[in-house]
Amino acid sequence: MTQNKTSPVYTVEPGGNLQGRLRVPGDKSISHRSIMLGALAEGTTRVSGFLEGADNLATLNAFRAMGVSIDGPKAGQVVIEGVGLHGLKAPAAPLDLGNSGTSMRLLAGLLAAQPFDSTLLGDASLNKRPMKRVTDPLAQMGANIHTSEAGTPPLQIHGSQSLHGIHYAMPVASAQVKSCLLLAGLYAEGETCVTEPAPTRDHTEQMLQGFGYPLQRDGATACLSSGGKLSACNIDVPADISSAAFFLVGASIAPGSDITLEHVGINPTRVGVITILRQMGADITLSNEQIVGGEPVADVRVRSAPLKGIHIPEDQVPLAIDEFPALFIAAACAEGETVLTGARELRVKESDRIQVMADGLQVLGVDARPTEDGMVIHGSPLGSGAVESHGDHRIAMAFTMAALRAAGPIRVRDCENVATSFPGFVDLAAGAGLAIVQEDNA
Ligand code: S3P
Repeated sequence: MTQNKTSPVYTVEPGGNLQGRLRVPGDKSISHRSIMLGALAEGTTRVSGFLEGADNLATLNAFRAMGVSIDGPKAGQVVIEGVGLHGLKAPAAPLDLGNSGTSMRLLAGLLAAQPFDSTLLGDASLNKRPMKRVTDPLAQMGANIHTSEAGTPPLQIHGSQSLHGIHYAMPVASAQVKSCLLLAGLYAEGETCVTEPAPTRDHTEQMLQGFGYPLQRDGATACLSSGGKLSACNIDVPADISSAAFFLVGASIAPGSDITLEHVGINPTRVGVITILRQMGADITLSNEQIVGGEPVADVRVRSAPLKGIHIPEDQVPLAIDEFPALFIAAACAEGETVLTGARELRVKESDRIQVMADGLQVLGVDARPTEDGMVIHGSPLGSGAVESHGDHRIAMAFTMAALRAAGPIRVRDCENVATSFPGFVDLAAGAGLAIVQEDNA
């Protein structure tokens, strides 16, 4: 979303620390997939811990618009009456997916294979994001999809195409592209295989198997064939490690902090933020580790610790891809230099997260130098000032945590989209000790 004059502003007073036990909302990636696979399954799928954020509601509403009966969400509970792989109905109007890149890219694969046409729309931010990464391989499978000249939304999808499987080596490490092609593969003649250049989140593969769909994984390649079916199941969505990340960083940088985040998803394809923070010296311990519905979860305790700058290993980048706004704040509070390379993808997220974070850090007096594919940050005392989130939820939340170590208040503008992934953020953060207030229509 571009600058929105009525979008809330957060003001965070400096200092304090984070204490207590809390549970952040449900995992966004798993919540999206629970609706999609639940809708395509045979039988009734019950979801608990569903993230009631705007992005997931966009997915939920899209399936309602295609004739799927969905009850909820009520306190994180959703009940989906699956229509089977061939039971979706043509939507009466274009599907508006708001800010949600995951909804658009995964739905593109699914809808390319349906016997009806559809149109996918997004907000100003989503309308700038690259879609050729999904429409090109889908075209190779026989799909008929049009993007704008620039390769961006809206997507005009012409259904009734007969798709055929391909073996696709992804040029970028993207779970969205992988998932899009596997969903199209549910309908494609023959085998669809996707090979990733580096491991990315594997919730689609896990959940397809959880719904009883045969899928083969061999190293970096996942393959499936059409002709199977999805059988409804119950899904317990863990707390989102990407939302926990703000508290992991806040508690690490604020002296005296001791916080425990409950029931956090610690799928190995998502734990880059913990690996990177530990390499920087963070004190993070896991307890109560268990497998819930095929996904590993744990309680994560963080106590403040002095951080030091590191060269972030490139193999950790896809495993922490959404956590860099928070990690840049950790780097600003670390002693010495932190260097990030191999993270060009950050430039095409909900905002250009390299430029927008560098701009905000510079407002706070931090020596942060953006590079083409990353950033060099020299740990420095944080000043105060007003930073722009550019409507990016994770930028907004990251800068609120910077106030724990700042010399004066930090104002973060344009925070409306925090609701896309973390409804209730202000109350939860304030309850843990962050001196944050929200001004609406500021
Ligand atoms: C997601 C994958 C990631 C991530 C996004 C959610 C998913 O995107 O940034 O927030 O649910 O598959 P890419 O696959 O484009 O890296």
